[in-house]
Amino acid sequence: VLDRISKQVTMLVAKNGPILGVPGLAVIQVGNRSDSSKYVEMKHLAAKKVGIASLNFAFEKDCKTEDIIGTIDKLNQRQDIDGILVQLPLPRDQKRILNTIDPEKDVDGFHPYNIGLLTRMGEELRQENKLFDPTQCRNVACTAMGVMMLLEGTDIAGKSAVILGRSNIVGLPLALMLLHRDATVTFCHSHTVDIKERCLQADILVAAMGQAEMVKGDWIKPGAVVIDVGINVQNEILVGDVDFKQAVKRAARITPVPGGVGPMTVAMLMLNTLNNRIHRLAHLKI
Ligand code: GUN
Repeated sequence: VLDRISKQVTMLVAKNGPILGVPGLAVIQVGNRSDSSKYVEMKHLAAKKVGIASLNFAFEKDCKTEDIIGTIDKLNQRQDIDGILVQLPLPRDQKRILNTIDPEKDVDGFHPYNIGLLTRMGEELRQENKLFDPTQCRNVACTAMGVMMLLEGTDIAGKSAVILGRSNIVGLPLALMLLHRDATVTFCHSHTVDIKERCLQADILVAAMGQAEMVKGDWIKPGAVVIDVGINVQNEILVGDVDFKQAVKRAARITPVPGGVGPMTVAMLMLNTLNNRIHRLAHLKI
């Protein structure tokens, strides 16, 4: 996927480079949580790999919210910046800070405007007889988009998709995307009483609840496709939300942790940034 994006960036810059230069991504980190620093580092590395300029803005944990907002306001105005990402979690004022990002540069897809567009998209696609295509998206949640990319080659229409977790970042947008591909979608969460039985019905099972190895082998319908979004540290090693060793015996296809959804999420961030640039060039009045 990164190779494809890299080629697209090269072609775009060859054609339109003198207008805006290479696509640009701004990454804002507040504080120095080691997990956030690692994710931010991976985002910069991927940007470098595909030829996207990435700028880093680091703030102290106890900085003023107004300073972060001032930086976002300036980035909103910059012509060389196509994407603005604020690494989560934030120590405070998360909603206010995220809502400051121009929805046109919201490469995480967290802004209510972009969630609204994604929600509405299903009916629009059906009217036009089209299917949801993650490669055509901009400003939609990267992890959910990454899951859809990993499901390329899997039958989705009419299948039972069970999502464990209902977060704004993963579960909710993913449910919309799967619906837009005609899956029958079920959410399971902390109040669901019969999780194992629900999982056993799933043709597509997505684990995104942040509970180390909670999904056992005997929760999986033989032949199911299993996508593990969890990243948990257990006895100093990274594990997913699925007990991989057990699950791999029942699943037809399964993603590992680390190495599955994580890198695809980062790749989708690059795609959102590139697609914002393509969109802006197409609408530029010059
Ligand atoms: N923290 C964990 N996942 C994410 C993500 O997808 N985007 C941002 N901005 N922060 C995160």
